[in-house]
Amino acid sequence: MAEGGVEELRQQSLLAIGDAGDLEGLQAARTTWLGRKGPIVDALRSIKDAPPDRRRELGLELNRLRDELEAVLSERERTLAEEGLRRRLALETVDVTLPGRPRAIGGPHPLRMAEAELVHVLREIGFCVAEGPEVETEHLNFEALNIPPDHPAREMQDTFYLRDLPGLLLRTHTSPVQVRAMRAHAPQPLRVICPGRVYRRDDDVTHSPVFHQIEGLAVGEGIGMHHLKATLYEFARRLFGPDVPLRLRPSYFPFTEPSAELDIGCPFCGGRGCRICKGSGYIEVLGSGMVHPHVLREGGYDPSRFTGFAFGLGIERTAMLHYGIDDVRLLYTSDLRFLTQFQGTEA
Ligand code: PHE
Repeated sequence: MAEGGVEELRQQSLLAIGDAGDLEGLQAARTTWLGRKGPIVDALRSIKDAPPDRRRELGLELNRLRDELEAVLSERERTLAEEGLRRRLALETVDVTLPGRPRAIGGPHPLRMAEAELVHVLREIGFCVAEGPEVETEHLNFEALNIPPDHPAREMQDTFYLRDLPGLLLRTHTSPVQVRAMRAHAPQPLRVICPGRVYRRDDDVTHSPVFHQIEGLAVGEGIGMHHLKATLYEFARRLFGPDVPLRLRPSYFPFTEPSAELDIGCPFCGGRGCRICKGSGYIEVLGSGMVHPHVLREGGYDPSRFTGFAFGLGIERTAMLHYGIDDVRLLYTSDLRFLTQFQGTEA
């Protein structure tokens, strides 16, 4: 290497690094000057050809130059990266006046709202809430309610049995809670309601295999049909309005005797007769009756002293009447266009 060669190398390389306007150019300069095929490595390699008294000094100078270039390159790199970031921040501004993204807030389902309202009204009338399991014994769901194994009512309420648990099934109605509540209270008088989920082997446009009922039960001394009628009428008027047409129609249930169904004037046609009330002007709301002596005995009450009345209503059916919904499937298909109509309408 010629005399003054290191200093010349230094001047040239520093100029080139100073000329690099971006990170890419800087990377290229690094390869050119410090790379394995660059002039500094070259010069280091050819030290052996220099006069012996120069070799040591030349080595020191070249190594110092390499360190210096490394430092200058890193410093430039940092500056260029910072400049790039500053330029991007200046371009990409945030508009703080943009409205935020709204977050969808859920609301109560109309079925839950109907249940809450029914429970509220019945509690005002004087009933307490009782509960029972959805997996019920066959005995409480049927036999205790005066439905023996060969009874045709079994077929009307065919259900889901649990294969590995003989004697257990998914309850077909909330009526087994009658017996459970009686056993828990006998011989005290009681007035309870039980809202809950029930199951039947039914699946068509008007029947769902899972639906909801509320059971009502009053047991005491001297309770008669007049108490049943007065309670149901009061209940229906609080729920559907004081002027709703009502009628109690004779019916049959194995666990009540006598039995009756409560009808209200059809809210869809105002009693004139339509598709939904099948032209009758009335719609059935619930089943009811005086508790059968067999059931009282199962519950631990002496039927010669105690009497009682019971009723059971479908929450889906009541919600449909209450809110004017004409298709039960709307309650299960989670269509927000339907469900959002009920938001903010809680009682
Ligand atoms: N459990 C009956 C049903 O599911 C309803 C009912 C309850 C009838 C209580 C009378 C008394 O249809």
